[in-house]
Parts: sequence; structure tokens; C-alpha cells
Amino acid sequence: MPPVWRPNRQRQACATPERPPLFQKNLPLGGSLRYHCGMAFDLRNKWVLITGASSGFGAAAAKAFGAGGARLLLGARRVDRLAQVAAEATQVGAASAHFRALDVSQTANVNSFVAWAREQIADGKLHVLINNAGGALGLDPVAEGKDEDWEAMLQTNVLGVLRMTRAALPLLAHHDGASIINIGSYVSRSTYEGGAAYAAAKAGELQITRTLRLELSGTGIRVSSVDPGLAKTEFSLVRFKGDAARAEKPYEGTNPLVAEDVAEILHWVASRPAHVNIDELLVKPVDQAAMHKVYRRK
Ligand SMILES: NC(=O)c1ccc[n+]([C@@H]2O[C@H](COP(=O)([O-])OP(=O)(O)OC[C@H]3O[C@@H](n4cnc5c(N)ncnc54)[C@H](OP(=O)(O)O)[C@@H]3O)[C@@H](O)[C@H]2O)c1
Repeated sequence: MPPVWRPNRQRQACATPERPPLFQKNLPLGGSLRYHCGMAFDLRNKWVLITGASSGFGAAAAKAFGAGGARLLLGARRVDRLAQVAAEATQVGAASAHFRALDVSQTANVNSFVAWAREQIADGKLHVLINNAGGALGLDPVAEGKDEDWEAMLQTNVLGVLRMTRAALPLLAHHDGASIINIGSYVSRSTYEGGAAYAAAKAGELQITRTLRLELSGTGIRVSSVDPGLAKTEFSLVRFKGDAARAEKPYEGTNPLVAEDVAEILHWVASRPAHVNIDELLVKPVDQAAMHKVYRRK
């Protein structure tokens, strides 16, 4: 029998006269809400901007933050998918869910997206920026690598994070529990054959995160990198350019992370007490002991 989480007991354990429980009603997606106690940072009605919200981690994060009562600003290139995600996030409790087309590989597009975000927020402030848009293209060794794949990976995973952060920084609240969370990868710390450009891009993301933490010291803005290992999303389908059979291979016989696992972590990172910074969080499936050691059931 798996252990059962008992919300009331958890609330009692966390609540003291000095530390009242922050959650007042039972919302869906209880997984992320178990942390809403004590000095947790309350994300209800806070503005949360998520890039790459049309699928995978970004879409699941929209729902996790929505279930916590946040106001959402969602961006990606597939607007029809964003509309669906926004509707689902609203259904589970988002205070509001706004979306607009975003291509993080284009500076002008990023700037107009952030200008739109500023209008939505009006007099308020942004509390969470999740730089999630990105991914891998191809699995060619360097000897056969394609310029267009390399350029696209660096455009989204590296320059996209820089562009979005530069544009959104003026919107972020100072000394009020705001967070920038960049989605890195296990590949930033380890690599594999055919992964050179993607590994370089995610190592770049990690160094951007570390640099930002230095540059924003004294503002109260938290800066984190959440670095997942093998996860089943549309990532592999995109990498293999729609080849579904090839995209399935990395997951064969193993039990990968799913988007909701990462979404719950993102919500947890942003809802830590305002003085707590989760610098770098590496999360892998149990089956992935190392990059080249993935347990597969026959
Ligand atoms: N799945 C994994 O195993 C894994 C592991 C570690 C890290 N990651 C990272 O996690 C992040 C999310 O990936 P995922 O696994 O959730 O894959 P996914 O399902 O393919 O999601 C990728 C998201 O990024 C968006 N995106 C891609 N290029 C974009 C661009 N130029 N402008 C705006 N949005 C763009 C996509 O939306 P549109 O196509 O609609 O624009 C989509 O919403 C990526 O940064 C990826 O590198 C994934």
C-alpha cells in the first residue's frame, strides 16, 4: 500500500499561531497543494508567465499554477493549443488565463509579447517567469550535424531565454517572492552521442541561470534551473521531426517522467517561502540511473 497523504494532518502539523495555513479551500491537483502550508509563498492571484505552454511541461505547468489560483500568461507558436490549455487551466481554478502567439527565436516577437503581457498585468507585477520553450532537433553526430538544427536549438534554448528574460525583467516584482525558473536538462551536466548542440544549449541555459542569480542579487528575485532527465512529452516527436516510431524508442520498456511530475516541481519551486531559492534541481526517473544506464523491462 502506498503511503496516504492526509491533508488535515498536514495542515495541523504546519499551522501555528505564527504560521497560519495558507490554503483555505480544497482545489484540484492536490499533489501540488500539499505544500501550501506554513510560510509557503502564496501564488493565488499572482501573475505567472509560461513560455512553451502549448504542450509538455509548459501546458502541465499552466494547469498546476492554475489549480493554485494563479493568473496565467501563456505563450507558444501554436495558438489553438494554447487556447485549449488556457481553458483547462481556467477549469481547474486559474484566476485568469490569457494567451498569445510567441516565438522566442524572434526578438521583435518576444518584445511585442511582453508588451502585451504588461497590458494584461496593468498596475500589478509579474511573480513567476518560466522560460520553458525549447527542445532538441535531430540526433546527428557533429560530423553530420545540420546548421539549421544547431541554429534552431541555440535560438530557442539559449537566445530565447536571454530575450524573454531581458524583456520581462522590468515586470518582475522586487522583494516580493518573484521567481525566474529556467527549464534546463540533465544533458547540461552529462551528454550523449548526437547531443552536442542540445547539450551545449542547455549548458548555456544553466550558465545564464547562474549569471542572472549574481546580477539580480539584492532584488529579491529568485532564479532557478529545473533540469529534467528522460520525460515523455512531445519532445522526442519534435526531435525526430514527426517520426513517431523513432520518437517512441527512448521510452521503450522504461518508466519516464511525465509532464505533471515536472509541473508539480515548478509549482513547488515558486511557492517556497520568499527567502528560499532553489538554485538547481536535477530530476530523473528512477529508471535513469545515468545518461547511458536506463533500465528497460523486456
Ligand atoms: N522531455 C524531455 O525529456 C526533456 C528533458 C529535459 C528538458 N526538456 C526541456 O523542457 C522544455 C519543454 O519541453 P517538453 O519536454 O515539454 O517538450 P514539448 O512537449 O515539445 O514542448 C515544447 C514547448 O516549447 C514550445 N516552443 C518550441 N519552440 C518555440 C519557440 N521558438 N517559441 C515559442 N515556443 C516554442 C512548443 O510550442 P510551439 O511548438 O507551439 O511553439 C512547446 O510548447 C524544453 O526546453 C526542453 O528542452 C525536456
